[in-house]
Amino acid sequence: MLAILLNLLPLFLESSKPSLAKVAPLKAVLFDVDGTLCDSDPLHHIAFREMLQEIGFNGGVPITEDYFAENIAGKHNDDIAKHLFPNDLPRGLKFCEEKEEMFRRLASKQLTPLNGLYKVKKWVEDRGLKRAAVTNAPRPNAELMISKLGLSDFFDVVIIGDECEHAKPHPEPYLKALEVLNVSKDHTFVFEDSVSGIKAGVAAEMPVVGITTRNPEHSLLEAKPTFLIKDYEDPKLWAALEELDKMKA
Ligand SMILES: *[C@@H]1O[C@H](CO)[C@@H](O)[C@H](O)[C@H]1NC(C)=O
Repeated sequence: MLAILLNLLPLFLESSKPSLAKVAPLKAVLFDVDGTLCDSDPLHHIAFREMLQEIGFNGGVPITEDYFAENIAGKHNDDIAKHLFPNDLPRGLKFCEEKEEMFRRLASKQLTPLNGLYKVKKWVEDRGLKRAAVTNAPRPNAELMISKLGLSDFFDVVIIGDECEHAKPHPEPYLKALEVLNVSKDHTFVFEDSVSGIKAGVAAEMPVVGITTRNPEHSLLEAKPTFLIKDYEDPKLWAALEELDKMKA
């Protein structure tokens, strides 16, 4: 039995080799913001946890990290409001708005770029690729994070879910980014860290590199990313980028 498995191993490794060859020649890279550029989910978690506890949600018992990952992370505020306050949507929306204010207070004090972010930034710049940030975050949050990370000049455009007819997991925000950048989905790939975001990129028919910043691997895999990386230092990512360089040469 073991011998058979060992014989199959090279086949398995070959088929799971991380590759973005499908999009060569690469023209553009699209980045989600929260959890993809920076590890901001803990700040969202803190803001939700404290504010929900304050109003006695869940009998005053703080929400767990699992609850947060499953029901809140990466989702649009309209959907979060519906989930948290199914019988009072206006209250839910107001709650989410106040939560965003608290998030911005936290983010302006502490925001950590993902490992290797500036290395990928340079790789993208050196190749003259187009780039967009595509996020379900409200515009003031997205712009605060992008500016705190020193990326205001890096992105050609920032697409906001709220400003589209449909936010992620609908493909529209990603399709809008392609349209504004004037690039084809066939020459573009996406970086995402949430199930909802990976689904949006996949629905827009682009390869999605999933980042396991906070969300569990098994749930990200359900959304069908092309492959998963730990952060931008992950050798799997650089193997795929080198392959793209070689195809161009
Ligand atoms: C969009 O890109 C194509 C080439 O892919 C180019 O021919 C066209 O002029 C561009 N359109 C605009 C509005 O920049």
